[in-house]
Amino acid sequence: MAQSVFSGKRIVIGVCGSIAAFKVAGWASELAKDEALVSVVMTGSAREFVTPLTFAALSGNEVHTAMFGAGREEVMAHISIGRDADAILIAPATANAMARLAAGMADDLLTTAVLASRARVLICPAMNPRMYDHPATRRNLQMLRELGYWVIDPESGMMACKEEGEGRLAEWDTVREHLARSLTPQDLLGQRVLVTAGPTREPLDPARFLSNRSSGKMGYALARAAFRRGAEVILVSGPTALPCPAGVTRENVRTACEMRERVLAHADGCSVIVKAAAVADYRPEILHEHKVKKEQIAKELVLEKNPDILHELGRRKRPGQVLVGFAAESRDLADEGLKKLNRKNLDLIAVNDIGGARTGFEAETNQILLISRTGSEKLPFTSKAHTADLLWDRIVRLLP
Ligand code: PMT
Repeated sequence: MAQSVFSGKRIVIGVCGSIAAFKVAGWASELAKDEALVSVVMTGSAREFVTPLTFAALSGNEVHTAMFGAGREEVMAHISIGRDADAILIAPATANAMARLAAGMADDLLTTAVLASRARVLICPAMNPRMYDHPATRRNLQMLRELGYWVIDPESGMMACKEEGEGRLAEWDTVREHLARSLTPQDLLGQRVLVTAGPTREPLDPARFLSNRSSGKMGYALARAAFRRGAEVILVSGPTALPCPAGVTRENVRTACEMRERVLAHADGCSVIVKAAAVADYRPEILHEHKVKKEQIAKELVLEKNPDILHELGRRKRPGQVLVGFAAESRDLADEGLKKLNRKNLDLIAVNDIGGARTGFEAETNQILLISRTGSEKLPFTSKAHTADLLWDRIVRLLP
């Protein structure tokens, strides 16, 4: 299986004085488990909320608290911490810290380390909603964005101060994806990509529908990987239990016809289209307003053909656009895949064996036979997350 994107990366976590600091302690632990080299810098007010010992234990590293530390090796810490960082994550970021960063101050270890660094700086604000909404804070946020810092917007909801509003620290699942993006080569930067995922549901009556076993995992892995590589990602998804990957724009559909409408609405504006969704080829001819009596079902289950979205995309493919299909096969993978590649005017087709328990539908892993116009390649048996990255590696080579 592939290494974590955080493995071996020097990540500085700057912790400021907010009750949300206790959540960031968990983030430090997650990154350390992913073999990141985590250095924590705590401001004076941060230590009012969580002790340095907590962060030291969870990050597996010494915590830096003073500009000029006691030990000899600490003397230049305010420079080396920033200089050696691969990314700096400031969380929770208080209004005060953001104001000092926006002003380019260097009056403590954290602000000095940021000025001495050329790494991506990610800022996760957390504060009382009225403070977050104050024009001075808004001005500082704008200045930070203009400095090239990535601001990860806080959530809205109930705060520790018992006030409701925007100011709650962003969730780790969201922050992790932006941090991963800051550490990933941006070979899809500037590309708008469209990914489809999941099954479609073709209703017979208010209670029943035709569908398939697609969980959406393969398509969601492709969308997540594309975001990390810098793309603008549109995910048209059938019904799944999966959360929308951070940074991805998701449109939910149910039927093949709804999926077709949303896909065609976006297709011309996208440089890459990857059709991982398991689209039903047929739907019940009649959608009954009332539940069909069980004695009538066999008689009523008359099917009619759904539009073949991928075939339609192949016909209207614009020059330079990369069109990637998937094929769910249980035998003759190479022959069936090549037929679809040619019949649907694809640039690539990813053929997966749906006969086994560890590839294809619902599995956490997959093994793809990748067929292009110039040949074929069997990708390794691996996680769908790694499969997604391997597929993007090959799609990037097809971009004009
Ligand atoms: O979602 P998971 O549980 O992770 O499972 C992943 C997967 C098995 C669903 C995925 O890897 C996969 O194989 N997706 C394609 C499934 C499928 O519909 O294959 P197919 O051979 O029936 O269709 C071929 C291609 O035509 C697919 O790109 C499909 O999106 C497209 N198609 C099919 C029918 C149709 N009416 N319109 C289409 O666009």
